Amino acid sequence: MTAPDITGIAIVGCGYVADSYRHCLEHHRARLRLTGAYDRDPQRLTAFQACWGDTVYRSLDELLDDRACTIVVNLTTPESHKAVTAAAIAAGKHVYSEKPLAMTVREAVELRTKAQQAGVRLAAAPCNVLGESAQTAWAALRAGRIGRAVLAYAELDDGMIHRTNYRDWKSRSGQPWPARGEFATGCTFEHAGYAITVLAAMFGPVRTVTAFSALLIADKATAPPLADPAPDFSVGALAFDGGVVARLTNSVVAPYDHRLRLIGEAGTLDIAEPWDYGSAVVLRRPAQGRLERFIERRWGQSRGRRLPLVRPVPFRRGWREPTMDFMRGVAELAAAVREGRRCRLDEDFAVHVTEVTEILQYPERFDRPAAVTSTFAPIEPMEWAR
Ligand SMILES: NC(=O)c1ccc[n+]([C@@H]2O[C@H](COP(=O)([O-])OP(=O)(O)OC[C@H]3O[C@@H](n4cnc5c(N)ncnc54)[C@H](O)[C@@H]3O)[C@@H](O)[C@H]2O)c1
Repeated sequence: MTAPDITGIAIVGCGYVADSYRHCLEHHRARLRLTGAYDRDPQRLTAFQACWGDTVYRSLDELLDDRACTIVVNLTTPESHKAVTAAAIAAGKHVYSEKPLAMTVREAVELRTKAQQAGVRLAAAPCNVLGESAQTAWAALRAGRIGRAVLAYAELDDGMIHRTNYRDWKSRSGQPWPARGEFATGCTFEHAGYAITVLAAMFGPVRTVTAFSALLIADKATAPPLADPAPDFSVGALAFDGGVVARLTNSVVAPYDHRLRLIGEAGTLDIAEPWDYGSAVVLRRPAQGRLERFIERRWGQSRGRRLPLVRPVPFRRGWREPTMDFMRGVAELAAAVREGRRCRLDEDFAVHVTEVTEILQYPERFDRPAAVTSTFAPIEPMEWAR
């Protein structure tokens, strides 16, 4: 039996990312307990159990029947997200879904309606907005360190993944990095959320998106070739409610660059790597004099002051360990349920992020510019960052 202040969670989908979640569970031992895991692929389930020594379920029904499980953590492939989340909702479970919540905003709205009717909560990854770097940049923004924010540039270029040795990338329990799935889902659906969530938390809902996407390299050297590869490049201009504009670029073509730059009238705030909770947050002032302009042209990126994080990152990060705490979003949902408060990554926020992402990846499905129909109430910073 789980103690009242410890929430029982169960994982569905024991693939590549499940090992990262499982690793990060150690950071939340006091509040989260894994009741078990399930994968429809018995080999993956066995490998997960052998690696971590956890309880496993023989079927999704068995998992959903387990009363010790309060939250289902849906780590299945994106095309399974909707069915697994819907089944968990129907069983009366709260759900934390990996992104995207669903492959279309229409499906995401359907899931939200089902959750509301069932009286359960729905939340979705990514949760890097709850990380120390994002919270530090947000605190600096609120403190007026860059004056009035007007513009943001977000790069989510991942390099030419298909030219890397990704075939050797294995998770701790031995699962390969799912290249085919990633290329079919598309880098925008896979990654845009890391920037949209941070920007939307800071600047409010997106009102319009003007987007362009393209498939630049159709042959990603997979065998057999991909039947229907998704766009591998997208760029969009997002106009936020409060007047801030952001340019967001996604690709698996251009060299690796994950900078998130917030530009205000009195300076800029840069997060170098939103996938790292301890990433440097650098405050820069605009150059004024001629010499300063010259220095900026020559050594622009080397100038600036690294801000202390609002708190130290409370876990070890390394090149063999996740630089993100994947479980922090699950912990946030569990805390929200326990405390009877709104979850920072709630269903409205997740629907909104899904809608903006769909427009970015498939702009031809929408008007141009696309009016974003979904919205969400303002989000609170973490208690330790206020
Ligand atoms: N790979 C990464 O680095 C990474 C990082 C962050 C987030 N994600 C996200 O995590 C999710 C999972 O990605 P992954 O890389 O682990 O994929 P994966 O293909 O390695 O694993 C997914 C697992 O889900 C299982 N599955 C699929 N449908 C199922 C169903 N209906 N019932 C039970 N099991 C089912 C598959 O058998 C597989 O083992 C995706 O939404 C992805 O966007 C991946």
